[in-house]
Amino acid sequence: MQKIMHRCPSNIALVKYWGKKGIQIPENPSLSLTLSQSFTEMTIEYELRENQQKITTDFLFEGKANEKFKTKIDVFLESQIPIFTWLSSVYLKISSSNSFPHSTGIASSASSMGALALCLCSIEKQLNGTLANENTYLRKASFMARLASGSACRSVFPYMAVWGKNSLLSDSSDEYAVPITDFDPIFKSYQNRILIVSASEKAVSSRAGHALMNTHPFAKIRYQQANDNMAKLLPALQSGDLEIFGQVVENEALTLHALMMNSEPSVILMQPNTLILIEKIKQFRQETQLPVYFTLDAGPNIHLLFPENCKEKVDIWVDNDLKKYCENEKIITDFVATK
Ligand code: PMV
Repeated sequence: MQKIMHRCPSNIALVKYWGKKGIQIPENPSLSLTLSQSFTEMTIEYELRENQQKITTDFLFEGKANEKFKTKIDVFLESQIPIFTWLSSVYLKISSSNSFPHSTGIASSASSMGALALCLCSIEKQLNGTLANENTYLRKASFMARLASGSACRSVFPYMAVWGKNSLLSDSSDEYAVPITDFDPIFKSYQNRILIVSASEKAVSSRAGHALMNTHPFAKIRYQQANDNMAKLLPALQSGDLEIFGQVVENEALTLHALMMNSEPSVILMQPNTLILIEKIKQFRQETQLPVYFTLDAGPNIHLLFPENCKEKVDIWVDNDLKKYCENEKIITDFVATK
């Protein structure tokens, strides 16, 4: 059997993807930072079986057979046969593990589907010699990752990526993400501390969350706002303007939750400690003048974002003042991915 291995990190969105149409086409462009410590490592052993008429897989998650994940992956692989025809006559033994605990507010679908897409594109490369060009390979992997789990398409690139057609980036697309390379070096080592307010399973799946936007009274204006925020954020990333960066990032986080709260039905994912922490962050920023900002995913946990040069002060503050508001005092340390 041949073997392929990939590691793919998760990402944290600064401009949020919330609302989709067709086959995983985003309603607005999104931008994320790629993380480095929160990743999926996937190994695929594979063998072509000419007489076989359908995909055959075994799936191990953290060393154990996992039927739920296997079924999801089988359905996805089945849908990819028109792209990679060899899938219909291959046996795949997929082993996957995450560097971070399950359901801690880190998008495991982004890292796992990113890793799967990278593995599939590597198999295609080995079998058919296509995708030899690195850019073509990554674009294809991003395209496939998107079909598996929207925001996963941004995870295959280091540093940061944009997914969704927009007038500011000429090569941007709704079909795949593109890497951002023109940014101030301060973002190369940008820090992320994830304050785990609750590690419970998400109350709303992201599929159900996106669907709420189909009938949302503010949908149109939200998609415009995301484009406007992108137009503010891209120059701030280029110039290293951390104040604009922070304003946009916090506005996007609170908008995401506001949209959920006034959806029909209403969804409230923030918890009392989320709000306490937000207040504490604002207060700390005012007192210290340090550029520490927050974002939120579709859950109660807080992602602190700040440059590496204030790491020491921030970590002491997190330890002394914030940790007690986290479930089992759990904090995850991460930073932007360099590869
Ligand atoms: O990729 P999905 O379908 O899990 O949606 C992700 C949605 C958010 O995480 C809330 C925002 C984003 O852009 O990652």
